[in-house]
Amino acid sequence: MPWNRRNLIAIEELSRAEIEQIHATTAAFKKILQRSVKKVPALRGKTIVNLFFEPSTRTRIAFEMAAKRLSADVISFDAAASSTTKGETLRDTAQNIQALNADLIVLRHSAAGSPLYLSRLLNIPVINAGDGAHEHPTQALLDTFTMKEHLGALKGRKVVILGDILFSRVARSNIWALTKLEADVTLVGPSTLVPHWFTDLGVKVSHDLKSALADAEVVMLLRIQHERQASSHFPSLGEYTSMFGLNKTRASWLNPKAIIMHPGPINRGVEIDSDLADSNRSVILEQVSNGIAVRMAALYLCSGGQPEAVLTTA
Ligand code: CP
Repeated sequence: MPWNRRNLIAIEELSRAEIEQIHATTAAFKKILQRSVKKVPALRGKTIVNLFFEPSTRTRIAFEMAAKRLSADVISFDAAASSTTKGETLRDTAQNIQALNADLIVLRHSAAGSPLYLSRLLNIPVINAGDGAHEHPTQALLDTFTMKEHLGALKGRKVVILGDILFSRVARSNIWALTKLEADVTLVGPSTLVPHWFTDLGVKVSHDLKSALADAEVVMLLRIQHERQASSHFPSLGEYTSMFGLNKTRASWLNPKAIIMHPGPINRGVEIDSDLADSNRSVILEQVSNGIAVRMAALYLCSGGQPEAVLTTA
């Protein structure tokens, strides 16, 4: 099946087959990254602009590395040092970047919907690197890719997502990806951060941490997204940790084979104890590493590349 999308805005709009195509392309790029020469000429002559209006470590660096591994030129925009501080709009900034001959924009913005808005405005591809509490598609693609490396096909696999679901774009993208891949997803946390209406998305909601963890094959932790919370959703951080933080006692409720995931940045001692984050059941740094191949796949496919071309060369 040919790849027909120019933009990657949301997992919600992808079919299961498209998710699997991205995963297959990711696997091929991952093999290339294990060679002594890790660079391919797929995007030689193209210029990628990373347009980040919110802080980022993993996503921004992984997109930069992915672009460089594909032989593209990459420019990372620093919102704090740009003309947006003089009142320039997102629309004008993006149209100017297009006029400067960029070939693709990767956008992170606090406003949900801003990547979709730019994709309709511009003639060049747009990839969403996180928009408000809406979606973070490449994060869910790397998370599900990492799960598949450990578990194989995700159909029927029990995945617990624990923490601040309400304000999390990572949770939303993972819910879409995991349900399309037919995993059995349970969201856990305080009722203020995990409201019952999430069940409309085809997942379970639980506030009983012990029973949810007992069944889990994957537990994905999420930090509290303070930057998007206008009011308190629990009495104190200490109380959140005492009720829902993953510590040694609670980890003992897990199946010994269950893996621990976190999209980062982690808040050690809040949603996860330090020794668990660093334990051999944690795959947190594997997620980060897989982020490069996933972003290579996203950049390559949205630039007009076809999966078959990579699958046959890898
Ligand atoms: N997971 C993630 O998006 O991390 P960054 O905010 O550091 O990019």
